Amino acid sequence: MSSDWLERLGGYPGVWKRRHLLGLEDLSAEEITCILDKAVVFKQLLAEGHRRIPLLAGKTVCNLFFENSTRTRTSFGLAARRLGADVVDFSAATSSLSKGETVIDTARNLEAMGIEAVVVRHRTPGAPHLLAQNIHCSVINAGDGAHEHPTQGLLDIMTIRQLRGRVEGLTVALVGDIAHSRTARSNIWGLKKLGAHVIVCGPSTLVSPRWQELGVEVSYNLDEILPRCDVLNLLRIQFERQTRRPFPSVREYAHLYAMNRQRMARTKPDILIMAPGPINRGVEMTAEVADGPQSAILPQVTNGVAVRMAVLWLLAGAA
Ligand code: CP
Repeated sequence: MSSDWLERLGGYPGVWKRRHLLGLEDLSAEEITCILDKAVVFKQLLAEGHRRIPLLAGKTVCNLFFENSTRTRTSFGLAARRLGADVVDFSAATSSLSKGETVIDTARNLEAMGIEAVVVRHRTPGAPHLLAQNIHCSVINAGDGAHEHPTQGLLDIMTIRQLRGRVEGLTVALVGDIAHSRTARSNIWGLKKLGAHVIVCGPSTLVSPRWQELGVEVSYNLDEILPRCDVLNLLRIQFERQTRRPFPSVREYAHLYAMNRQRMARTKPDILIMAPGPINRGVEMTAEVADGPQSAILPQVTNGVAVRMAVLWLLAGAA
């Protein structure tokens, strides 16, 4: 039976040699495309009604989240269960971290119970990298501070590819809090590798001109770039990561950067409106835009399950 699923997936890919997924900065275009291609097959299998594709039967995936999450945590859990794996949901709030146990000791103890993959979210950039050096099972970065959120980048790119048929040659603007966004970083690495033109746009307090050094266009004026964009990915202002308020008021931010009906009238007719979530209606975009015909926000969430199935299978499937 497992061979039937493998056949649909085209077999375990020779290009895949990695044990961990720590960021899209490390991945080649070929590896990114490999994950996306497998995710498309998993999405198709799910659409056909297959709710259990037991390629990870007998394996255990541990969700190790030290920061809150709705989409990432749930979809990793769902993806692992769809693959027939057992899921351990670690809760930082009720764990022995409060008694002084370190993150590494916590992970080592969970690993000693027999797990094949750890999905980790932590406020400290590099925390997943540290774990990867100290435990033996696969480590997947589910968001480390403002550094990277590779599966979010992958699901965003999958959504663009699915709804626009390609990534190469498209102009994708990341709008908002670039300084504190791990989603922005993963999107920039992934999109650039696949040949998109990337613009980062927002207030100067949240968008460094140094992004130009990576071949990214920097803009402080959304109205100016709007007519050129194929995709807008509207990022939340992450007040929880900021020590100083980056603009005088949310109202002023929304006046300059929120997508609304007037701005939609100035975009290409087939513009894609994306957001990693959670969204703040009235800040990054109006409710009318979030729920409008150009919005790909919920398709992004749907693609998240397929992307995470592909990642879990590629990392833990060969073990
Ligand atoms: N996009 C994202 O990472 O959402 P969560 O914080 O809800 O997981």
